[in-house]
Amino acid sequence: MNNAELLLSEIKHCQVEVEKYLEAALPKDALPKGALGYEVLLSAMRYSLLAGGKRIRAAVCLKFCEACGGSFEDALPAACAIEMLHSYTLIHDDMPCMDDDSMRRGKPANHIEFGEFTAMLAGDAMQALAFDTLLKSELPAQSVVEMAKILAQAAGPHGVCAGQYLDLSGEGTEHTLEELLQIYSLKTSALFSAAAQMGAIAGGGTQEQVRAAGDYAQAVGLAFQAQDDILDCISTAEQLGKPIGSDADNEKSTLASILGIEKCKKLVQSETDKAVKVIEMVFPQDGFLRPLADYLVSREY
Ligand code: IPE
Ligand code: IPE
Ligand code: MG
Ligand code: MG
Ligand code: MG
Repeated sequence: MNNAELLLSEIKHCQVEVEKYLEAALPKDALPKGALGYEVLLSAMRYSLLAGGKRIRAAVCLKFCEACGGSFEDALPAACAIEMLHSYTLIHDDMPCMDDDSMRRGKPANHIEFGEFTAMLAGDAMQALAFDTLLKSELPAQSVVEMAKILAQAAGPHGVCAGQYLDLSGEGTEHTLEELLQIYSLKTSALFSAAAQMGAIAGGGTQEQVRAAGDYAQAVGLAFQAQDDILDCISTAEQLGKPIGSDADNEKSTLASILGIEKCKKLVQSETDKAVKVIEMVFPQDGFLRPLADYLVSREY
């Protein structure tokens, strides 16, 4: 196998483990005896969570755990918690009051399939399930508490919610580069950073390794969102599994719109270079995180 094939097979390995764990972590369809019928809510959660995301954040978590000397098993609760949290943000992100998009992961968006109140509640329940899943970790309690704190901070009022608030409240206004970098750091890098840091903690990493994991993921997250903006302009819905032109339709200023595609590509590359440097300095033996960052630059979906 050449290097590219090795990377893809390693990503596949992460995906397989994550899918198995997610499937087991979802509430079963059978309700407690005597419960009133809310099976549809559980179906809506299953529909979005198992719809085949790329599981990049989970892979980052699992691989930082390995890079710090841990095993996949150590990091799977955290890796799956981050995917649940991410899936909740996507369900809400597509709703009419947010980006108003009708397709996600190649299927009708959750609110199109199940209606708005069910989608909203499926997202809410998935966020709680993320913490429930993380707290089932069998790692020492101190590590689990530390991970839960990181996840809560990334998801909360000074993390994804702040980023999504700024993203939506800014529709129709032209943001500066500095403003957009701050928004992306909150709406996207926060979860990448949480994934990386939780992975490093699960693997018993040193403070320096946990900090480096966060720095890598901050840069990868920015590059990832900038590439997402580019794809929203130049790709196809078939390839992405979600609508294109959503940002322009919503009059959002994005890195692609304010810089233009070529300069935006340069920013994707420069953030990726930053991430690669962190790995070279702090995880020189690692054979996955560096090629992963490079691979994400050229991703087409
Ligand atoms: C989409 O994330 C949201 C962004 C931050 C751009 P992904 O592209 O990782 O979505 P899935 O999980 O693979 O569907
Ligand atoms: C999403 O950004 C960031 C989230 C926190 C969900 P986008 O709105 O650009 O993501 P897509 O393009 O809908 O996947
Ligand atoms: Mg959005
Ligand atoms: Mg969106
Ligand atoms: Mg987008």
